[in-house]
Amino acid sequence: MLAYRHAFHAGNHADVLKHLVLVQVLRHMAAKDKPYRLIDTHAGAGSYILTAPEAQKTGEYEQGIARLWGRRDLPPATSDYLQLVRKCQAPGATTLTHYPGSPQLSRMLLRPHDEHRLYELHPTDHRLLDGNWSGSRGTMVFKADGFASLRSQLPPPSRRAAILMDPSYELITDYAKTVAAVKDALSRFSQAVIMIWYPQVSRHEAAQFCKRLETLAPGSWVHARLSVQQVDAQGFGLAGSGMFVINAPYTLAQTLRKELPFLVSALAQHDGASFTLNERAV
Ligand SMILES: C[S@@+](CC[C@H](N)C(=O)[O-])C[C@H]1O[C@@H](n2cnc3c(N)ncnc32)[C@H](O)[C@@H]1O
Repeated sequence: MLAYRHAFHAGNHADVLKHLVLVQVLRHMAAKDKPYRLIDTHAGAGSYILTAPEAQKTGEYEQGIARLWGRRDLPPATSDYLQLVRKCQAPGATTLTHYPGSPQLSRMLLRPHDEHRLYELHPTDHRLLDGNWSGSRGTMVFKADGFASLRSQLPPPSRRAAILMDPSYELITDYAKTVAAVKDALSRFSQAVIMIWYPQVSRHEAAQFCKRLETLAPGSWVHARLSVQQVDAQGFGLAGSGMFVINAPYTLAQTLRKELPFLVSALAQHDGASFTLNERAV
């Protein structure tokens, strides 16, 4: 039984990085009229209430989205992302009460002719996801393993696809499963734009993970990492996270170069906060 629930973590610094990149990639996908299929292999509940007990218990959003909420000096892509988050608040609300998950953010950017495929295994989160999004045009919600199901969605008839892979890495096997699913996805559709999120943790598997992704990428990739939090003496806490984007839009690295220094200063919880940004352009 899976224990991870994203409701405890929604809007944290890792979501900020992940969703900023997601928005930029989907903006790029929408620059062409031709439809595309977005596959979210680990979708979560879809949207979150920040005043709910889960979010209040950890307060993680206070060190993430809440730090950006009142700022008027945001660089363009962060501002674009925050505008979308603002649209998810209750009508007329001036305070931050809701946070969109990847399904809700994506739904705002998909066009009527695009396809949206959402996978979620946790029974509670699947029920919430299905209740909120399965009626939306172009969206299909599955209670199935996103790693194993990805192959069934590729290649899409439109020959355009973006994939978000956002496992919880609750199980150490998630690293190897992600690598295997990426490899299989690229063998079926080498042009897929694949966004892979990972947590910055000191584990052997994590150290090898990005090297494996670099090897698999047939062409361009962009790798952004944001480190803002100090882990405690026992090693608990999420120091930071990364997004590895295979077949990244050619503008992505340039865009992130302007945004990441701002995010470090806005989200830093200690003096050693930092970012790295690497790319292979083709
Ligand atoms: C980090 S959360 C997803 C957050 C979401 N992508 C977002 O950005 O709002 C990871 C989710 O994956 C789900 N999950 C874990 N293993 C899965 C699997 N093999 N297939 C599909 N979903 C899975 C978990 O229940 C959890 O809700």
